[in-house]
Amino acid sequence: MDTIGATCLLPGERALACPQENRPPLLDSSELECLKQFEVTRSQLQQIQVSLLGCMERALKGKADSAPAVRMLPTYVGSVPHGTEKGDFLVLELGATGASLRVLWVTLTGTEGYKVEPRSQEFVIPQDVVVGAGQQLFDFAAHCLSEFLDAQPVGNQPLQLGFSFSFPCHQTSLDRSTLISWTKGFKCSGVEGQDVVQLLRDAIQRKGTYNIDVVAVVNDTVGTMMGCELGAGPCEVGLIVDTGTNACYMEEARHVAALDEDRGRTCVSVEWGSFSDDGALAPVLTTFDHVLDQGSLNPGAQRFEKMIGGLYLGELVRLVLAHLAQHGALFGGHTSPALLSPGSLLLEHVAEMEDPQLRQGDTCPDASDAELVQRVCAAVCSRAARLCAAALAAVLARLQHSREQRALQVAVATGGQVFERHPRFHNILKETVMHLAPECEVSFIPSVDGGGRGVAMVTAVAARLAAHRQLLEETLAPFQLNHEQLGAVQAQMREAMVRGLRGEASSLRMLPTYVRATPDGSERGDFLALDLGGTNFRVLVVHVTEGGVQITNQVYSIPEGVAQGSGQQLFDHIVDCIVDFQQRQGLSGQSLPLGFTFSFPCKQLGLDQGILLNWTKGFNASDCEGQDVVCLLREAIRRRQAVELNVVAIVNDTVGTMMSCGYEDPRCEMGLIVGTGTNACYMEELRNVTSVAGDSGHMCINMEWGAFGDDGSLGLLSTCFDAIVDQASINPGKQRFEKMISGMYLGEIVRHILLHLTSCGVLFRGRQAQCLQTKDIFKTKFLSEIESDSLALRQVRAILEDLGLLLTSDDALMVREVCQAVSRRAARLCGAGVAAVVEKIRENRGLEVLTVSVGVDGTLYKMHPHFSSLVATTVRELAPRCAVSFLQSEDGSGKGAALVTAVACRLAQTAQV
Ligand code: G6P
Ligand code: BGC
Ligand code: BGC
Repeated sequence: MDTIGATCLLPGERALACPQENRPPLLDSSELECLKQFEVTRSQLQQIQVSLLGCMERALKGKADSAPAVRMLPTYVGSVPHGTEKGDFLVLELGATGASLRVLWVTLTGTEGYKVEPRSQEFVIPQDVVVGAGQQLFDFAAHCLSEFLDAQPVGNQPLQLGFSFSFPCHQTSLDRSTLISWTKGFKCSGVEGQDVVQLLRDAIQRKGTYNIDVVAVVNDTVGTMMGCELGAGPCEVGLIVDTGTNACYMEEARHVAALDEDRGRTCVSVEWGSFSDDGALAPVLTTFDHVLDQGSLNPGAQRFEKMIGGLYLGELVRLVLAHLAQHGALFGGHTSPALLSPGSLLLEHVAEMEDPQLRQGDTCPDASDAELVQRVCAAVCSRAARLCAAALAAVLARLQHSREQRALQVAVATGGQVFERHPRFHNILKETVMHLAPECEVSFIPSVDGGGRGVAMVTAVAARLAAHRQLLEETLAPFQLNHEQLGAVQAQMREAMVRGLRGEASSLRMLPTYVRATPDGSERGDFLALDLGGTNFRVLVVHVTEGGVQITNQVYSIPEGVAQGSGQQLFDHIVDCIVDFQQRQGLSGQSLPLGFTFSFPCKQLGLDQGILLNWTKGFNASDCEGQDVVCLLREAIRRRQAVELNVVAIVNDTVGTMMSCGYEDPRCEMGLIVGTGTNACYMEELRNVTSVAGDSGHMCINMEWGAFGDDGSLGLLSTCFDAIVDQASINPGKQRFEKMISGMYLGEIVRHILLHLTSCGVLFRGRQAQCLQTKDIFKTKFLSEIESDSLALRQVRAILEDLGLLLTSDDALMVREVCQAVSRRAARLCGAGVAAVVEKIRENRGLEVLTVSVGVDGTLYKMHPHFSSLVATTVRELAPRCAVSFLQSEDGSGKGAALVTAVACRLAQTAQV
C-alpha cells in the first residue's frame, strides 16, 4: 500500500507526521475506514495532476467542452510588476475571505523597497446580502467604500479603484468582466452573466458620495501573485487557499487561443475549484464529500474546491465527527445540536483542534476522543493539502511545457486563511509538490497583505492604460465625423459645385471635359492610350471591336526626379515610353489615335486641349502649369523625329474611369478616383455649365474636388495633423480635401498621430522610434493591411516591427485604431462628396428617386478592406433618394481614354460625311 498518509511511509520517504514516541493508539475498523477514505495515494495524486494538466491544455486551446473542468480564464494582466507603478489606489476585495469585504488604500511609491503600509478596513457582509439581490450586494460594497473614505483625507479628487473579485469571470479587458457562476456560499441574484465592473460602477454612482473610477477587476490569485515581494524575484504563480481555492500563473500568450496574441506572457486564472474529472476524482471523493456537496448552495459544482477550500474543511470534519459519533466511535455515541448542524465547525476550529501544541499535557479522560478528533482534522486537512499540491504540480508541469523547460525554478505567491491559520497545510503541500514535481525548484512566498498591493499594481497598470486610452480617444475624436458634420460637408460641396459651374469663386473648379456622352457600344477601332497621374504610368493599346475591348498595356515608372524635373524632360520620358511600347507591340510607325489620361486639373478648351492649372500628387515638373499639355506632348513627339502619333483626346482619370465603366453599364454617369489623389466627375446638364455654350444635353464635369476646402471651408474639420501634413507637402494650402482622403497622405497623417501619441507616452512606452521620423515611411498600404479583419494582431505587429518599431500588443491595437480612425474619416468624407453629386444629378432631373452607377478606380478604394463599404454606407445615409451602385473599373481609365478617343473619331467621321 503506497499511501502518502498519516500511517504508512513511502519507500525512502521521511515520516511526515508522527514520531515513535507519540504513536496514536490503534483505531477500530469503522474509525479506520473513516480516516482511510481521506488517504490519497501517490498514483491517485499523479492521476489528478495528469488529468488536471490535460484539462488545462484543452481549455487553453479552446478545445474544452461546454462545461470545461477548468476554465483557464485570461486576466488581461500581461506582465509581472516592474515596480515603477506609483500613486494612491483604492482596492475593494470581495469574495476572497468568505462573507466579508475589505477596502484598502494602497500607496505605491514606485521605488523598490520603499513601501507605505496600506490602510484597510474589513466589513462583514450580512448573510441575507450574500444570498440576496445582486444590487443589494453592490450597494453594500459602495456603502462600505464610502464609509471607509469618510475616514480618509481624500477631498473630492478622482479615485482609481481596483476591484478584487474572487469568483470565476470571463474577462474581456482589464475593466470588463462577466461573472460565470457564484462560488463559496455566495448566491446573489441578477449577477451571473453580468459585467461586475459595471454593477459596481452603477452602485457607486447610486451612492454618489465619491468620484471613484473602477479601472481594473482582478481575481484574488492575480492580486496575490502581483503583490509578491520583488526581492524574491517575480512570482509567476499565485495560489489561494482561503474559503475557496484557485491558482493563476503566467502562461505564454501564444498558447491562449482566446487571445489574439503571439508574444509575451499573460496571466491565466485556472479556476481549478471546478476540476471534476470523474476518472481522477471519483476514487478520492468520500461519502462525506458527496453529503457536503448535496448540502451546499451549488451541488455538483466546485467539487475540487469542496475538498480543499477553508469554507468546507470545517464541514467535512463535522460530517466525519457526526458520523463517528452516530456510530458510537466518538463522544460515547452522543451527538449535540451543534455537531449536527451544518456549518457549525469552521476552519479556525479545525486548525485549533489539529494543533498538536493544544494537546500537550492534556490528560482529560476522553483523550482518545480528542485524539480521534485531531486525527479526523489531520486526515481532512492533509488530504486538502495533498490535493492542492497535485493541482499545483499540474500548473508547474504546464509551466515546464509552455516554457519548454525540464528544470523549472519558480516562485509561488501564496495567500489565504488556510495557509495562515492551518499549522501544517503549507508543509504538507510543499513536500507533496516536491514528490510530484521533483524537477521543479519551487519557492513559496506568503503574500504580505492578502494581495491588496498586487491589486493596486494591476490597477496602476490599468490606470495607465486607461489614461492612454483616454488620450488616444481624445486624439482620434476629431476624426469621428457625425451625420451633421457630413451633411454640412455635403451641403458645402453642393454650394461650391453650383458656384464653380457658374464660374464664381469656388474651391471646386468644375471643369468642362468636352465629353458629352458615355459610350453607346458602337465605338470601333484600335487606339493608343496613356495613363499618367496614378501610382503607375501606363501605355496601352486598346482594340474596340464588336466583341468587346482588348487591352494590352505596359507599366513604366516616372522617377521622382522626372516628375519634379523639367516639363520637357517629363514629356520626353513619356514619348520614350510610348516608343518602347510601340516597339514591343510591333506598332512602330503606326499612327494610332491616342487618348491621353492626364490626371491633373486641366482647363479644357476642347477634347484635345487641356491647360494644366496646377500639379498635384507630388508632381511638380517645371514649365507645364498654364500650358496646354497636349501641345507639350506633341512637341515632345516632334522632338523625337520619326514618330507619328495622333493625340485626339485628353481626359482626366475620373472621366476615363466613368467612360470605361459606362461601356459596360450605361447608367454610369459619375467617375470617382480614390488613389494617390482623389477626384470625381459626373454628367451635368449643359444648361448649368455657364462656361460652355448650349443648354441641352449633358457635359461631363471634372470637379477637381481634391481642392475642395482650399478656401478654408473645411477648417472646422481639419486637425493639427492635417495641418502638419499640408505644411510638409510640396503644395501647402492646396488640395485640402485630397489631403484628408487620398492614399498619398493617409499614411503621413497616421505617422504624425503616432509621433504625437509616442510623445504623450501612450505608445511605444514613450520612446520615439527613429524610423517614424522619416517622411512617407508609413505607407498608406499599411493601413489597408493593418485594418484587414483577417489579420491577427500578431501580423499587425509584424508589419510595424518590419518598420523597426519595438511594440507591445497594446501598441499594435492602438496603431490599428489610429489607422481605422484616419481611413474611416477619409471614406466618410468621400461618401459625403459622392452624396452631393448624385443628389445634384437627381435634382437636375427633377427625379423622386435616381438610380445611377459610379465608376471607381484607385488603389486605396480597391485595396482597403473597409473603404468602399464605408463610402456606400455614407452615401445611403446622406442621399437616401439615390440608389447608387459602385462599379470598380477593371481596366483603369486607359480604356476610358481610348473610348473617348473612339467617340471623338466617330463624331469626326460623321462630321466629315
Ligand atoms: C487607375 C487609373 C488611373 C488612375 C489611378 C488612380 O490606375 O487607370 O488613371 O489615375 O487608377 O489610382 P492610383 O491608386 O493609382 O493613384
Ligand atoms: C473562485 C476563484 C477564487 C478562489 C479563491 C474560487 O471559488 O472561483 O475565482 O480565486 O475561490 O478565492
Ligand atoms: C488630380 C485629379 C485626379 C485625381 C485622381 C488629383 O490630384 O488633381 O485631376 O483626377 O488626383 O488621380
